Amino acid sequence: ILLYFTALSYVASDINYEKAKVALKEYIEKKKKDINPRYRPLYHLAPPVGWMNDPNGFSYHNGEFHLFYQYYPYDSIWGPMHWGHSSSLDLVNWKELPTALLPETEQCFSGSAISENNTMILMYTGRRNTSVEPYFNESQYLAFSTDGIDFTKYEHNPVLPGSPSGAPDFRDPKVWKYDNDFYVVIGTKTLENQGSVLLYKSKDLRNWEIVTVLDESKGDLGYMWECPDFFELNGKFVLLMSPQGMHSQGDRYKNTFQNGYIIGSFNYTTNEFVREQQFQEIDYGHDFYAATTTEANGKRYIVAWHSMWEVSHPEAVDGWVGQMTLPRELSIVNNRILMKPVETIVNLRVGVAVDGNIGLNEVREFGKAVELFIDSDLNRTVNLLLEGRDGGGNIRLRWNPEDHKVVVDRDSGDIRQVEWSPINSTTWRVFLDASSIELFCGEGEVVFSSRAYPLGGWKLTNQSPQSVHVKAFNLKTNSGIVGQENGLRLFIFI
Ligand code: FRU
Repeated sequence: ILLYFTALSYVASDINYEKAKVALKEYIEKKKKDINPRYRPLYHLAPPVGWMNDPNGFSYHNGEFHLFYQYYPYDSIWGPMHWGHSSSLDLVNWKELPTALLPETEQCFSGSAISENNTMILMYTGRRNTSVEPYFNESQYLAFSTDGIDFTKYEHNPVLPGSPSGAPDFRDPKVWKYDNDFYVVIGTKTLENQGSVLLYKSKDLRNWEIVTVLDESKGDLGYMWECPDFFELNGKFVLLMSPQGMHSQGDRYKNTFQNGYIIGSFNYTTNEFVREQQFQEIDYGHDFYAATTTEANGKRYIVAWHSMWEVSHPEAVDGWVGQMTLPRELSIVNNRILMKPVETIVNLRVGVAVDGNIGLNEVREFGKAVELFIDSDLNRTVNLLLEGRDGGGNIRLRWNPEDHKVVVDRDSGDIRQVEWSPINSTTWRVFLDASSIELFCGEGEVVFSSRAYPLGGWKLTNQSPQSVHVKAFNLKTNSGIVGQENGLRLFIFI
């Protein structure tokens, strides 16, 4: 009898879960109509409605990229976490898919995906409330899909019930396969409140054993390491993570939380990660967090939440919040990670908007989505103002030949800056979308990702003492973003 009732309750909860999925899909379709499109990106991934934070489950499965994300569809604020889902053939045109995971007794916190025997497996953190201090528990869950769209949670969740130290923060599993074993890194903190990353190993993804503490903060890298990733790149190993609680030092660590990496060596026999470099920020902009990578066709790609915790999100009143950065390709040169925009971005170009010198105080106007190439002469000051044609925006890009710093100055004073020594090219490549800017310097040795909110498309004013050469392309995806145009204004002369 007991068995019968247990079976029955499983069936009932499955049915309820399926019903909830259908209701959510209908809700999203209905709510989309209320979105104000003024800041909606034209070529960056954003949630159809509601709130988005971390990228999750970035992976390559049966010839397609999948990108999931922390998602709360019912409001423009963080809430009980779902996994939103999109796929792409080329990393720049995105297709919206049904919400992959809905919270039940657990919230579906960040995690990763792996493709194995034609099955896509998600490994994520289930966060549950408890009645005793610290009033939450984090453990690791699995979900499976054979079609890459519809996911079923594993019936014996959780597969990793808690951290070995007993620290309740134990989240954001990043799984990969090496030889015949699966590995996962998980972010946590020590009992002394130091950020830390644990490495586990498994034969079947269901049974895990701890291998080692891969690395941890020694008083200098914050109290919690979120969203760890660990991968080999150009013969080195990279530990990428998002530390909380680092203190700003001069130009460094100025965001609410940081995102960076440590380069070192590692081998699968000793399982020892030996640091060769200190922690470095990966992106110097205002809005870049929880970055995660995947490998496909011999290349390592990264994508991050193009937003930040505890900052204002002007798009919230429009019915949505958050977007992803442009996916980028990684390499290591001179012990630094370089980030280059994915090559396929060139397929979005729909025409040249500007090609020529722009003199002092001259203005050029664009639509909402533009790619700019700016030739800089490192011996001369550069000072470019980017703002909305109808107001808002207000980002200044500067190069200062005295201190060799690139400066991104938002709203006249909210500054991010860093020294830049180009390894080859001195060109700036800038990607503007309806509410974001990404600046790639040279080969990607210095990159800034920030949000900015221009109205009515972008305009550029050259305030450098000398003229600056700019080539600009209008961009457009095939993703069919409803209600969204590039905002190009056509002037017809009769
Ligand atoms: C990082 C993070 C993760 C967590 C998720 C919750 O931004 O705090 O550690 O899994 O967001 O939404």
